Amino acid sequence: MKRNKNLHPLSWEHHHTLTSVVLTRRHIKNCAPRARLVQIAREFAAFHREALLPHFRHEEEWLLPRYLRHASAGDAAVTRLLREHVTLHRLVYDLTLAERNSADLVAPLTALTDALEAHVRFEEREMFPMIEAVLTADELSSLGEELLRSVSDAVVIPGGDGCRVKAASENAPLPDSL
Ligand SMILES: [Fe+2]
Repeated sequence: MKRNKNLHPLSWEHHHTLTSVVLTRRHIKNCAPRARLVQIAREFAAFHREALLPHFRHEEEWLLPRYLRHASAGDAAVTRLLREHVTLHRLVYDLTLAERNSADLVAPLTALTDALEAHVRFEEREMFPMIEAVLTADELSSLGEELLRSVSDAVVIPGGDGCRVKAASENAPLPDSL
């Protein structure tokens, strides 16, 4: 995929998120036992804390301010991105509550994975191309430096049997699945 290299750290995190979506859906489709779904729900709670929260923060504090230098304060894409971040926090919260209350986990896991996929697709297919088109070369390179300085430690991919992945290095090619 053709993606400005300064956005690669965020795109790699999107790829890991899509991997968690595919793996979790496979467990649901194969009627995994409840104990397995409980484990996945706990993995999502950790993934939210260790991967999604810093990822959202980097987008909100570093990416969007640069974009907003070229867009209106009420830009629809910015509004959608922020609204979806809050919705994703809520869906993780719903899942955690369902797990604690011994309630059904298929519905909250399905809602969360569907929302994660839609959000990643929106950012990769709509938001990032707009950002690549309007940010200056200096804005893109300073963003890339900030992102590379704060690449997170390896995280467990929900549904991945404990498999840990490290956020990408600068030079690794991005997968086509994005
Ligand atoms: Fe994102």
